[in-house]
Amino acid sequence: MKAVNIAIDGPSGAGKSTLARKLAARLGYVYVDTGALYRAIAYDCISHKADSEEQILARLPEIRLSLGYIDGAQHVFVNGEDVSGSIRTAEVSMGASRVAAIPKVREFLFNLQQEMAKTHSVVMDGRDIGTVVLPDADVKIFLTASAEKRAERRYIELNEKQPGKQTYEEVLADVIRRDEQDMNREIAPLRQAPDAVLVDTTDADLAQAEEMLLNACKEKLGS
Ligand code: DC
Repeated sequence: MKAVNIAIDGPSGAGKSTLARKLAARLGYVYVDTGALYRAIAYDCISHKADSEEQILARLPEIRLSLGYIDGAQHVFVNGEDVSGSIRTAEVSMGASRVAAIPKVREFLFNLQQEMAKTHSVVMDGRDIGTVVLPDADVKIFLTASAEKRAERRYIELNEKQPGKQTYEEVLADVIRRDEQDMNREIAPLRQAPDAVLVDTTDADLAQAEEMLLNACKEKLGS
């Protein structure tokens, strides 16, 4: 049976990963969080003090990435080490946005993402899934929310893990800076695919957003 592919793109903090994970669980598909792959590369580069583009590119042949699933949650491994917990810091977020702007890094991850989608029915979230990685996805969703709302959500999430590490204003500045980087980079910029359904979660709670997403899928998949 042909694998069904659902692509969810959008800026950080729109609720992509939470919603994509829930959607995948409801549909019985595999959830692929592609941001975690960019974060894993950034984490490796930070650990090895690879800072310049040249140093980052020199790390790529040394990095073996793999995905695993524990109780339905995606875990990302770098050379066998589970880095899933370590990649959720503000430093790695900025690093991921930086490495994601390097064409060779995107190339490096392209095959891994395509292979996952070929062999499994997936809900894949990222920035360029509907536009570049899976242009023939069965369902494409562009999930967004205002920058303020997204910063508020990220602030609450970060504060739970590292209380007092960043103020709301700092998180908002980071969100705006990352949007800027992700939308204006030359390669695979964050953009809504022409055939993507727009879902705005600014005023929606999680349950409402989940229904919006599920309805969009049902409409496209016809069940
Ligand atoms: O979704 P996230 O915050 O975990 O993503 C981390 C960074 O990786 C983000 O700044 C954009 C980048 N990214 C990307 O360029 N393409 C993707 N498909 C996924 C993430």
